[in-house]
Amino acid sequence: MTDLLARLDTDRLLAADPDWWRQAAVYQIYPRSFADANGDGIGDLEGITSRIPYLVELGVDAVWLSPFYPSALADGGYDVDDYRDVDPKIGTLADFDEMIRALHAAGIRLIADIVPNHSSDRHDWFREALASPKGSAARERYIFRDGEGPDGAQPPSDWQSIFGGSAWEPVGDGQFYLHLFAPEQPDLNWANREVRDDFLRTLRFWSDRGVDGFRVDVAHGLAKDLTAPLRSHAELEATKLAGDGSHPLWDREELDEIYAEWRAVFDEYDPPRIAVAEAWVAPTRRHRYAAPTSLGQAFNFDLLRANFSASEFHEIVDRNMVFAAETGSSNTWVFSNHDVIRHATRYGLPDDGTFEYDLGKAWLLSGGTTPAVDAARGLRRARAATLFLLGLPGSAYLYQGEELGLAEVASIPDSERQDPTFFRNAGVEVGRDGCRVPLPWDADAPSFGFGPTDASHLPQPEWFAQYAVDVQAGDPASTLSMYRRALALRHELQGAEKLAWIALDGPDVLAFQRPTGWTVVTNFGTEPVALPSALAEREVVLSSDGAPAAPGARGVLPGETTVWLR
Ligand code: GLC
Ligand code: CA
Repeated sequence: MTDLLARLDTDRLLAADPDWWRQAAVYQIYPRSFADANGDGIGDLEGITSRIPYLVELGVDAVWLSPFYPSALADGGYDVDDYRDVDPKIGTLADFDEMIRALHAAGIRLIADIVPNHSSDRHDWFREALASPKGSAARERYIFRDGEGPDGAQPPSDWQSIFGGSAWEPVGDGQFYLHLFAPEQPDLNWANREVRDDFLRTLRFWSDRGVDGFRVDVAHGLAKDLTAPLRSHAELEATKLAGDGSHPLWDREELDEIYAEWRAVFDEYDPPRIAVAEAWVAPTRRHRYAAPTSLGQAFNFDLLRANFSASEFHEIVDRNMVFAAETGSSNTWVFSNHDVIRHATRYGLPDDGTFEYDLGKAWLLSGGTTPAVDAARGLRRARAATLFLLGLPGSAYLYQGEELGLAEVASIPDSERQDPTFFRNAGVEVGRDGCRVPLPWDADAPSFGFGPTDASHLPQPEWFAQYAVDVQAGDPASTLSMYRRALALRHELQGAEKLAWIALDGPDVLAFQRPTGWTVVTNFGTEPVALPSALAEREVVLSSDGAPAAPGARGVLPGETTVWLR
């Protein structure tokens, strides 16, 4: 009964604020690597539910759950067999309902990942398409084309899939289907009314179950112009970032119409469901997805690709504050997700320009095997960057494990790798498995407490022990303690979605003040800098180097460190 009352209260609280997303801290859970309740080595929904107390203590406002649908895992679950069910390997719909109930009772919202660009090749529709003749309605739900060449054995064009190899797969009767990702991920035809309607049904299905919003996978890819003759791969690459709606595959104008229909569904609910677009487009094009008539928010990957540099961070923040004001959306900030090298490792890579992040390629660069990584420096910078990010106006998207300062696992044996980018680019890409290794909870337990047994679907290195939750929880200087403190204080710091820069001497220091008066100061350089007395007299509430809070504490800010001042 007490439980029920507490739940009703929280539900009311959750319903009260339609703007909850604007400055939320959203924690991404990659379900198969978070917590394993039954010990089969695969994280599951029951595991997530059992770890809700951890999420509460961490202080996140919402969880973004990567795909949990039935899937053969040709692409980590981004190959969906059935959009309205749960993968039996990780739970049931009843487990999902229980998980969402428990999250809501704890005051945490849930954002579900939705994958509209492609289904899996095991989806009923695709099986039906293969069993149906050329020209049939079943094939119209996907993108089938006749082969080229005298005997029709050549693919319809020389397009390359993003995971490597041809983007066309023959089906044996003279036709090929398009897959911009793996062959197990046939692209859906969004010009087809049935496809559109089915996704509206899926949005309602999960919204009715209490999902608070959606993360939209490859949001810039759904609409395509496949009028013959198809242009060459080289021509498409050259115009990829034209941003004028002329590219046949990416960022087309028809998307506005698709997302306007989604918006109408979101607005059927109270509070309206929210959405965030994953769109690897030029920054100036992001606003279309973030518009209130469209998905409402779009990931801004600028910081994820930036060097640890005061001038780069400054420019990125300024530019995105302008975009947010123009669209009425709020900013989104991201350093890590399941597609990219963990930022504690990225910041420890040599600063020689070898690891520049090329737009659209960042997610292929997971791994970091070749160069020597300075792990201590990487972590120090990651912590400084995180306190900078968490002080900014807008929402923060955090990836599971970053709160432990977890490093990329570079040492996965080839035989254990799972990511299709590894297999389709043999010897070139190590793929994204290194950021998807199951989390360490308990230094001394089997599978570091990921589950009750030794099983772990990707091998955990021995050094994971030092990052385990139980090692860090009681240490006030740990990365976990820093995240907990920062997320607890963030609600006080935030206020209106504004900031004012404070001019300081020297090229390596950035300082900004929020309307609440809280101030964030980051030293991106390696040398300590003296702070002006107006800042030095303020109370240090939190410091990324783990130093204790202190009134009027610091005249000097150490290198690669951020402080929050009140
Ligand atoms: C997105 C996902 C990535 C996936 C791809 C294809 O980029 O984040 O993990 O491989 O889409 O669905
Ligand atoms: Ca399991």
